[in-house]
Amino acid sequence: MKNLVILISGRGSNMMAIAKACAAEGWNARIAAVISNRPDAAGLADAARLGITTAVVDHRAHADRLAFDSALAGAIDAFKPDLVVLAGFMRILSTEFVNRYAGRMLNIHPSLLPAFTGLHTHRRAIDAGCKLAGTTVHVVTPELDHGPIVAQAAVPVLEGDTEETLAARVTAAEHILYPRVVRWWVEGELDFTGAGRIGHRGGAPQWLV
Ligand code: GRF
Repeated sequence: MKNLVILISGRGSNMMAIAKACAAEGWNARIAAVISNRPDAAGLADAARLGITTAVVDHRAHADRLAFDSALAGAIDAFKPDLVVLAGFMRILSTEFVNRYAGRMLNIHPSLLPAFTGLHTHRRAIDAGCKLAGTTVHVVTPELDHGPIVAQAAVPVLEGDTEETLAARVTAAEHILYPRVVRWWVEGELDFTGAGRIGHRGGAPQWLV
């Protein structure tokens, strides 16, 4: 049984999609904890309603990034995680923290990487006149939004889209993609041997449109 620890900062809809898929599909895994850096993250109450243990490590209570990261690592490690899942976790992490979970920490970023790293991805995709937008699940490495890509989902950018309407379309795709990828990880389906490229051992499509 794999222990998953999910980190959130806000709404937590990806966290909920993963937790529900884990239960409904009977993965050989448990959500050992959901941890937020913000005490007011809405996802905390949703996770608790599912009976999942929650914790808060408030970044504002720590003097600097290293102090926060070290407290966060302590909270995570208490749950003996096999995999750390970043799901809308809005903190930049130190190299030390990332290296501690090397090869066992995933993130979802709301763009088709390597396009639009960083913030405001939907606004930037619309402004650039993109016809496709999407989301990427990647392994976390020290450089922000640059780790090896595990899977991507593309959605159209429609005439008249606003940041909100595009975000809603991307988020709906994320709720399919992220649980699928985490399940692959749990079941040992991901092949990390390809020098920075990640394959699926069974040849499942690592994309969604
Ligand atoms: C998602 O779009 C994710 O890609 C990004 O932040 C958003 C989090 O949404 N990193 P939620 O908290 O999972 O609802």
